[in-house]
Amino acid sequence: MAPADPAARAVELRSLLRHHDYRYYVLDDPEASDAQYDALKRELVALEEAHPELITPDSPTQRVGAPPAVQFAAVSHRERMFSLDNAMAAEELDAWVARVERALGRPAAGFACEPKIDGLAVSLTYERGRLVVGATRGDGAVGEDITANLRTIGAIPLALLGDDLPEVMEVRGEVYMPLAAFEELNRAQAEAGERLFVNPRNAAAGAVRQKDPAITATRRLSIWVYQIGFQRGGPAFAGHGESLAWLRSAGFPVNPTSRHCNDPTAVRDYVQRAEAARHDFPYQTDGVVVKVDSLAEQRELGFTARSPRWAVAYKFPPEEETTRLLAIAVNVGRTGAVTPYAVLEPVFVGGATITNATLHNQDEVARKDLRVGDTVIIRRAGEVIPEVVGPVPSLRTGAEKVWQMPEECPFCGSPIVRRPGEAVARCTGGFACPSRLREYLAHFAGRGGMDIEGLGYKTIDMLLREGLIADPADLFSLGKDDLISRERWGEVSVGNLLAAIDGARDRPLARVLTALGIPLVGGTVARVLARRFRRLDAVLAASEEELSAIDGIGPEIAGSLRAWAEDPDNRRLVAKLEAAGVRLADPEEEGVDRSRLAGVTLVITGTLAGFSREQARVAVEDRGGKVAGSVSKKTTAVVVGESPGSKAQKAQELGVPLLDEAAFVRLLAEGPAALPAG
Ligand code: IVH
Repeated sequence: MAPADPAARAVELRSLLRHHDYRYYVLDDPEASDAQYDALKRELVALEEAHPELITPDSPTQRVGAPPAVQFAAVSHRERMFSLDNAMAAEELDAWVARVERALGRPAAGFACEPKIDGLAVSLTYERGRLVVGATRGDGAVGEDITANLRTIGAIPLALLGDDLPEVMEVRGEVYMPLAAFEELNRAQAEAGERLFVNPRNAAAGAVRQKDPAITATRRLSIWVYQIGFQRGGPAFAGHGESLAWLRSAGFPVNPTSRHCNDPTAVRDYVQRAEAARHDFPYQTDGVVVKVDSLAEQRELGFTARSPRWAVAYKFPPEEETTRLLAIAVNVGRTGAVTPYAVLEPVFVGGATITNATLHNQDEVARKDLRVGDTVIIRRAGEVIPEVVGPVPSLRTGAEKVWQMPEECPFCGSPIVRRPGEAVARCTGGFACPSRLREYLAHFAGRGGMDIEGLGYKTIDMLLREGLIADPADLFSLGKDDLISRERWGEVSVGNLLAAIDGARDRPLARVLTALGIPLVGGTVARVLARRFRRLDAVLAASEEELSAIDGIGPEIAGSLRAWAEDPDNRRLVAKLEAAGVRLADPEEEGVDRSRLAGVTLVITGTLAGFSREQARVAVEDRGGKVAGSVSKKTTAVVVGESPGSKAQKAQELGVPLLDEAAFVRLLAEGPAALPAG
């Protein structure tokens, strides 16, 4: 039934939804059931569909919907976003308290203690209560504009509650991924054969920097707000705790375990409790942030170059446990490298159950004197990958066994060899080794390589299981009949995969070189090689001397390239890729004068209409010019595209000329004569 006054109903619905958001995200005490909430939301959506003129940017229906970004614009923070000094032990915390007391000439009046959330810092700017900009920390002075992504986070209010709203307020907080969301995301990634995220912080950082906000919206992020960065107008605060209370009343989630502590003893007590309880929270914490509460005292204490003197981050110590080393097994990676890893009796450490830990290489096992059957110490610091610290020799029974690198690959039976002077042992089975082939294919098709969408581990495993491919070149001869009617493969998915594979036939040479997985040849080296030689056969024919003479290519890389090029397996692969119609060369641009831009250094900022960043760079470098990442007095000119960053401003300060896209095109065609005079 249509409401009598749609405009009034829209206002009412928004206010109701905001109220329920507040109960849910801020107070953690919802009043409405999910169904009731959804019904209100649906009613508002329907109303806005019928009356698009009623839509406001801060409507709860408007969180997702911004088009994918090409690139994030730069945002200057109104107040620098400082980082914090760390206190790694109780004594260092005491030392900080003593420094504060010395600087003030009296004990601080009180402290604010908060969990240190392991996510990523963001700044949210509100003008008259409306969210206008959300940004990353960046280098502290300038961050990236990720407003469209942050708007998708339900816990971030689009409009603030209350009457006395500041004209401008920049609020800081930590965006994080709750542990449950992280685990679910990794389950889904594993199922899709995609790469797993190492920890919730990386997952959150990745989600927030997605080009497409619709993807961010699926990642179930949240936020704890912990600081006001800049404020004009609105209420005045005497203490940090007071400002947090106001932030909470305005609709920001403020961590409920934050406390005011009157003296250092209370601070120590808080820290101890937080540490004991660190795994009880549904999100990751890596310490406690202690702040001097009084804002007047904060002003008295001020800042060092990198951090406030009025705050410190107490970091929880890395966590260690002992368990039994049941066995040492090996993996075979994409280059054939054989990597030993510890198979452990499951042990709960650092908030997770650990069953495996990499041992890196044979020498590492020997250096640590690890023996199968040992009791070993496992450390998991700050959510990094778990590490075997070493054995506890006093607990040895004599039954422990010294480990030897196997002589044969457990996956293919080929000999494992270790070349003199190398730390890694390698399986010699080549593509006949199923483990190596699987990893190679994943790398070949991966984002840094041929970038074949939809070809993750899961699909690779199917292709290998069904005997459809025996090397990467076989991908290009897959046909519809090979795939259709395999489990979960229909017309659409088969069509998409084949189209993606076909699209990989004309990747730039730099990508092909990266995809080939030549040891020591990553993206940067591959670009250098592609630029210099333009053709794969030329790269592979170059002598070691010729290669080492190139800027950016050392003798080790040159040696590795030669060794790769001489391996008959690799030669066969290259020939087969060529026969499969993979373009192994970059197209020559005709009539290019390779020294036209000699001595010219450009900086590019913003989005160009006719070039991707990479294309623009290649165009400049093809003509003998350079593209730099930052503006200095040596910069010849700054090319300014759509939504330029701070580099344009920097150029003006330094008197470096600015070129628009048309002037850039002229420069490419005519050389420095096309530059503005002076
Ligand atoms: S206050 C000038 N409070 O830790 C004060 N930071 O190591 C700025 N962090 O960049 C920070 N939880 O990303 C503050 N309750 C908390 C925090 C917190 C996590 C992060 C933040 C900051 C980093 C400093």
